Amino acid sequence: MCGIVAAAARREVSEILLEGLRRLEYRGYDSAGMALIDEKHNLKIHKRKGKVSELENAQRQHPYHGNTGIAHTRWATHGEPSGLNAHPHISGQRVALVHNGIIENHAALRVELSEAGYEITSATDTEVIAHLLHSSLSAGGSLLQAMQQTVVKLEGAYALAAIDIANPDTVIGARKGSPLVAGVGIGENFLASDTMALRQVTDRFIYLEEEDLVCITPDSLQVYNADGSKVQRPVERIKEGLETADLGSFDHYMIKEIFEQPAALEATFAGATNAQKVEERFGLAAPALFDRVKKVQIVACGTSFHAGLVARYWLEEIAGVSCEVEVASEFRYRKRVQYEGTLLVVISQSGETADTLAALRNANADEFLGSLVVSNVDNSSLVRECDLVFLTRAGIEIGVASTKAFTTQLVALLMLTLALSRRRGLSESRQQDIITALQYLPRCVQQTLELNDAVQHLSEAFISKRHALFLGRGIQYPIAMEGALKLKEISYIHAEAYPAGELKHGPLALVDDDMPVVAVAPNDELLEKLKSNLEEVRSRGGELFVFADKEAGFANESRVRILPMPHCHEVIRPIVYTVALQLLSYHVALQKGTDVDKPRNLAKSVTVE
Ligand code: F6R
Repeated sequence: MCGIVAAAARREVSEILLEGLRRLEYRGYDSAGMALIDEKHNLKIHKRKGKVSELENAQRQHPYHGNTGIAHTRWATHGEPSGLNAHPHISGQRVALVHNGIIENHAALRVELSEAGYEITSATDTEVIAHLLHSSLSAGGSLLQAMQQTVVKLEGAYALAAIDIANPDTVIGARKGSPLVAGVGIGENFLASDTMALRQVTDRFIYLEEEDLVCITPDSLQVYNADGSKVQRPVERIKEGLETADLGSFDHYMIKEIFEQPAALEATFAGATNAQKVEERFGLAAPALFDRVKKVQIVACGTSFHAGLVARYWLEEIAGVSCEVEVASEFRYRKRVQYEGTLLVVISQSGETADTLAALRNANADEFLGSLVVSNVDNSSLVRECDLVFLTRAGIEIGVASTKAFTTQLVALLMLTLALSRRRGLSESRQQDIITALQYLPRCVQQTLELNDAVQHLSEAFISKRHALFLGRGIQYPIAMEGALKLKEISYIHAEAYPAGELKHGPLALVDDDMPVVAVAPNDELLEKLKSNLEEVRSRGGELFVFADKEAGFANESRVRILPMPHCHEVIRPIVYTVALQLLSYHVALQKGTDVDKPRNLAKSVTVE
C-alpha cells in the first residue's frame, strides 16, 4: 500500500528518495511521485502512473535537485491511478504533501475549500490536506502550527509528510492510524512509512506514536504529541542483517521466501526445547494471563485469518480451549458477546493491517482478559498495542503473497496451543511429542521443497484453466482455503476452497473436465471419507490433483494425478502441505507470466480500511 519517503539534508536527496521508493515497491502501488525544493526555493515535481522506473525516467530526462524533498508510491483508493492523482499534491505553488491512509471527511472539506477559493483538481482524498495546510500558512501560522491546525480537521487515517518553500530546509510529518517512522542521520534526517525505505541511509529510527507530529531539518528532529508538547521518543537501532531484500539466485521474492521456510520455521521455534521455554517466547506477563484463559478469540485478515482457522483445530483438539476465529473487517463492526476469560489473539504479518488494528482498538476494556499479537514486524502498531507479543522470525517478507510469514504464524500458534494445553493437563509425553514434531518440521519442509520439479510439472495443467476447486477436510480445510487464495492472488485463476464433505451440497455442479480439483489428502482419520468425495469428482469427469501422503494409498490413474508428500507427524502436516500448494501457485503464475511478487491491485501492507 502507499509508501512515503522524505528527507531534509545538507546534500542532494533525489537519489535517496528514489532509492527509498524502490525499497517500498514491495508494498504494492500504481503510481509514484517526488517533490523537491530546489536551490532557488521553487517546488519541482515529477509524478508518473505506473512503476517507480517511470519516475526515474522522468528524473533522468528532466533532472530536479534539492536538499529537501518528499516522495510517494500511491495505491489508488479515491480516484484512478494517474499522474494527476499521484502524490505529491500541491497548493498555491508553495506546499507539497504526500499521504498514506484515507480521509473520510474529504467530501465536506472539498466543499469548504472550494468556497474559500481553492480549485481541487484531483479525485483524491489527499489534495484537500495540501490546501488546508496552505490556508493555515497563508493566515500567518508557522509550518508546525499549520500542520497542527490541519490535522484536527481530518477524520480518518493518515501518515503525512509535507514541505513548504517558505521553510526550505524543513519537512513536517504527522501520523494517526497509518505508520510513520523518523530516520536519524548526521546532518540529515528522514521520514518514511517503514524502516526498509531508509536502510541505505541510517540504522537509527524513531517510531512515531499515534497523533505525533514531527519536524525535521538537516540538524534537528523534534517530535510533538497530540497536545502540541515537545516529546522525546526513543531512538532504536535496527540490527544488521534483519532486513535484507536481496534476491540472491532466485528470480522472484516469492520463490526465495518459499525456499527460506526451513530456516524461518527453525528460527521461529529455536530454543523452545520444552514447554516452559515455549511459554517464555510469549513474554514475562504470559504465564499469569495464560493461567486465566478459558477461551480464545482470534481476529485477522486474509492469509493470517487462515492461520487462525488452523489454530482453532489445534486449540480445541489439543488444548481443549474453545476458540472462535473471525475476519477483522467483520469483527470490528459487529455487536459481540464474549465469555469471561477470553484472550484476544490478533495475527498480522505486517502488524499494521488497518482492520486488525481497529478490531484490537475497538475491543472493550472489559471484553477480554488481554491481547496477544502474532506478528513478523517488531515495533509495528499491533506489537506496540498488545499486552503480549509473539514475534515470528521469518525475516522480511517482500513478495505480496504471504508464504513464510504464514507458516511461521502456524508455528507460533502451535506454540500457543502448547502453552495453554500445559495448564489443561496435556501429558508431558504428548507435549514432548509435539515439540519433537516441531523440531522435525524444517526437515519435512525441506523434503517438500525437493518436490519443486514435480509440482512444476503438475502446474502445467492449470495454465489454460479459468477456475479451480480446492478440497480439504478437518484441519486441512483452511489449508485448502490458503491454497485457493494463493492461486487466485498471483495467477488470477478463480479458485475456491470447500470442505470436501460439502461437495455434493452444491459445488459438485461445477465439476467437469475443465475444472481442476486440488485435494489436500494427508493420511489422517478422514482419509477414507475424502477418498469417497474424490470419487464423486472423478466419476463426473473432473481432473484430480491429489497432494497425498506417500502412505495414503493413492495411485496415479486416469484423471487422477498424485503428488506424493513426505510422511510426517500429523500435527505439522498443515504446515508441510501449505508449502506444496505455495509451489503450485508460484509455478502456475510463472507460466502465465503474471507479476508474481506484485500481483495486480494488491498491496503488502493494507493500512487503509
Ligand atoms: C495473502 C496476504 C494477505 C494478508 C492480509 C493480512 O497472501 O498476504 O491476505 O495476509 O492482507 O495481512 P497481515 O498479515 O499483514 O495483517
